[in-house]
Amino acid sequence: MTKRKHSKRRYRLNPQFTRFIIYFLVFLALGIYGVTNISKAVADMKYKESNEYKLLSLGYSETDTKKLLEILNSEDIQTILDEGEYNELYPQIINQKYFLVKNYKDYVAYKVDNEDIPYEKVIAIVNVKAANGWYSITENTNIADGNLMIVNKFYSLSSSYSPEDLENVSLQYAYADNKASAIVIQAFEQMYYDVLDNLNVHLMVNSSYRSYEDQEEIYNDYKNVSLKYADSYAARPGYSEHQTGLALDITSLEHKNQKEFTSSIEYEWLKNNAHKYGFILRYPEGKEDITGYNNESWHFRYVGIDVATQIFNEQITFDEYYAYYLDK
Ligand code: DAL
Ligand code: ZN
Repeated sequence: MTKRKHSKRRYRLNPQFTRFIIYFLVFLALGIYGVTNISKAVADMKYKESNEYKLLSLGYSETDTKKLLEILNSEDIQTILDEGEYNELYPQIINQKYFLVKNYKDYVAYKVDNEDIPYEKVIAIVNVKAANGWYSITENTNIADGNLMIVNKFYSLSSSYSPEDLENVSLQYAYADNKASAIVIQAFEQMYYDVLDNLNVHLMVNSSYRSYEDQEEIYNDYKNVSLKYADSYAARPGYSEHQTGLALDITSLEHKNQKEFTSSIEYEWLKNNAHKYGFILRYPEGKEDITGYNNESWHFRYVGIDVATQIFNEQITFDEYYAYYLDK
């Protein structure tokens, strides 16, 4: 094999052309650098005018800022910015478990007027429509919700409504003249036998379905004492769950009196187990400002096992459940 001979040839560039190339490259680099910096400065200026920058500058965290910008309109954001300083009210409200965007303004207004009420309660009170007072705004309940129909101080039934599947409740575990929806009686019967097996106590249904007229009579009796008294113990006619056929007032043969029943083991058992049969304690202690009623250890409402279990696990009332999960 013959080795190829390489002859090194040097190409000399025209010096003028070389200078031109160098200048050109330097200008190009400077140009690119300049344009980049200018656009960076413009972007920077623009960012500083953004609500994101302003919220962060006031001390709102990145997560809260992102959330505020996502859920609020520019007018509501401006109200926050106009305060000129960090206010825990806003992050507190938007981060509550049962926060609903549609109620944002009402939460803020209610908390400002009621500083001592904890945030969690503010959310609940507003969600269930109780912020403006009992019976302040009322509407017909949606009967199509079936076992989940809500009847409270804001949702009513017409005077002619009565459930189609009413049946007599057996005298074995109810006083005379008690009727309820078939599904409720069935669920109660199972619970009755389990309480008997577990505690050797006999549950008794005191009151169940009540017509509009029945409720009117009860409410008027209470009203003879005072309006406030009546409203904290009885529903106004059309506003009672008893008219749905889904509510039962329960005590026991062993503790007939409601006061005795409240401190009985069967009440304790029902509080912890009624959900397994589809019942919830409808007016629990500590929730008076959400339900509008004093604690009623005897009043159980049928909502079905799944919903009753969720309500039990989340320790909320049916009013809160309805507002958050059904009426979104
Ligand atoms: N005691 C309950 C609230 C009613 O009258 O329906
Ligand atoms: Zn009741």
